[in-house]
Amino acid sequence: MAESMTGMKRTHRCGELSAANVGENVTVMGWVQKQRNKGGIIFVDLRDRAGILQVIFEESECGAEAFTKAEKLRSEFVVAVTGRVEKRAAAANENLSTGEIEVRAGQLRILSEAQTPPFPIEENSKTKEELRLKYRYLDLRSPKLQNNLMLRSQITTTIRNHLTGEGFMEIETPMLTKSTPEGARDYLVPSRVHPGSFYALPQSPQIFKQLLMCAGCDRYFQVARCFRDEDLRADRQPEFTQVDMELSFVDVEEVIDTTEKMVQRVCKEAIGLDVSLPIKRMTWQEAMDRFGSDKPDTRFGMELSDVSEVVKGCGFGVFTSALESGGSVRGINVKGQADMPRKKIDALVEFAKGYGAKGLAYLSVQQDGTYKSSFAKFMTQEELSALVSAMEGRKGDLLLFAADKNDVVYDVLGALRIEVAKQLDLIDNSLFNFLWVTEFPLLEWSEEENRFAAKHHPFTMPMEEDLPLLDTDPGKVRAKAYDIVLNGVELGGGSVRIHQPDVQEKMFEALGFTKESAYERFGFLINAFKYGVPPHAGLAIGLDRFVMLLVKAESIREVIAFPKVKDASCLMSEAPNVVDDAQLEELQIAVKPC
Ligand code: AMO
Ligand code: AMP
Repeated sequence: MAESMTGMKRTHRCGELSAANVGENVTVMGWVQKQRNKGGIIFVDLRDRAGILQVIFEESECGAEAFTKAEKLRSEFVVAVTGRVEKRAAAANENLSTGEIEVRAGQLRILSEAQTPPFPIEENSKTKEELRLKYRYLDLRSPKLQNNLMLRSQITTTIRNHLTGEGFMEIETPMLTKSTPEGARDYLVPSRVHPGSFYALPQSPQIFKQLLMCAGCDRYFQVARCFRDEDLRADRQPEFTQVDMELSFVDVEEVIDTTEKMVQRVCKEAIGLDVSLPIKRMTWQEAMDRFGSDKPDTRFGMELSDVSEVVKGCGFGVFTSALESGGSVRGINVKGQADMPRKKIDALVEFAKGYGAKGLAYLSVQQDGTYKSSFAKFMTQEELSALVSAMEGRKGDLLLFAADKNDVVYDVLGALRIEVAKQLDLIDNSLFNFLWVTEFPLLEWSEEENRFAAKHHPFTMPMEEDLPLLDTDPGKVRAKAYDIVLNGVELGGGSVRIHQPDVQEKMFEALGFTKESAYERFGFLINAFKYGVPPHAGLAIGLDRFVMLLVKAESIREVIAFPKVKDASCLMSEAPNVVDDAQLEELQIAVKPC
């Protein structure tokens, strides 16, 4: 039976006690991690969010009633214990912060009994993630997840302190709003008062923060919940949190500078990491050419080489036809892997195909200097040697090539480079490599829609020197847009915004919006700009990703209290779910039978 805690007041958290408390009488409360009954003496590991404490029950000390209760204790019972802190009789447990001490119990109350949990609450629990997510409140009791949540809370506090100190105002923007321009699908909320009309949950506070600049707020930030209905991955959730910022009267440099200083402080305060400033920068073009990715992982080499010039006119049709249709031939040099078994190479070819490659050509430089290659028969010895030397191929190296349209080649080799590095364990996990990627293209061609789409969003400012290209060659226009990348993950991104009506109009034109359709979607922003708008710029950091990388978690789910799984459902609450007919009726919504 559960007892009350009336008359008992907690004096310490379990994990807060140490040798400094020896001799003190304390009251601690928490969950039973483990109970071991050794006959006349019962050991209980008591756990709370601060750590684990050993409590000892002996009848001579605690009396018969408490001893009998202690005999009944099972894992996850919630108890209150009053007792004396003593130096451990046995050898200290170096794995515990409280390892030098134990509490000799005088009084015990069972505040809540517990059923046997479906899995043990332990570090590195081998339990399947599905089961852990179903009972997330139990999973969250584990020290690892407790630490993740604690660190996340500390990081948010540091960010708030930092930005407030830099003159930012924290302002909340609406959740029930209109479609925002980030390009994913919206989550819609039906309106009861306006049947047939829907709010969209914000994909980001983008438009509102720009309006706050129009409103004269000067520097805004928000720890903002965002919603995007898109395919989930390890670093994506349908609802996630951004540290969102916007600044007036600034250009690229100030945003980068402000962000870097914030990131530097967070890293220092959260995990004691020194980030030296300024963070390295690379243009988007350089990132693509060297790493095949706009979020390069610079913790290892194996950079891409463009060998198009070298193979021009060679006898291998796969290469020459890619070049003839405006593409390129590029490769990576996998050092010392000439002996990679055929099976493994074939698996890499399949991997490349997953990224759109039609194939993957390979060549290995044998120890005797000869070549083994999937395309040797199509090339002369001289052509092969020229190719190997362009790739700086040495004896023992394996060269992998992709030939296709540029974006396919980048995609394939960018992904392959990471895959091979993982397989060969080439990535130094102790590193935190930050990088700015700048000068993103303003637009990207959408094959699906047969028009240009904004790469960042439609309010992103083109680089001044590229403005004339907006009429003649829109695909070549670079934007004042930047991403901050950490260890190959896009941590955040932002841009300078367009504040001139003529440039905005041209941008909408390039995107294929008519004046009417632009007004329909973003009219309230366009109108606001007619009443005096400061030049402004901003950026948003993905908070979940930032915490994930700082705690070296495998997935963003490990740093979110109640995450969703791949199909965007919550295994614990079973959301989404069907609703009552009465609710649908009220909203005047009929569900089509499937
Ligand atoms: P963007 O769309 O690049 O920019 O988003 C900014 C950052 O938010 C994080 N992020 C996500 N995190 C988890 N799950 C997701 N589904 C997800 N989608 C994005 C990423 C990303 O870098 N309004 C602009 C910012 C601006 O221009 O100021 C925006 O939202 O870390
Ligand atoms: P094939 O003559 O089609 O058998 O191709 C010869 C070699 O070229 C094989 O190793 C293919 O995997 C490879 N290959 C085919 N298409 C491409 C491509 N687009 N890029 C690189 N290699 C390719």
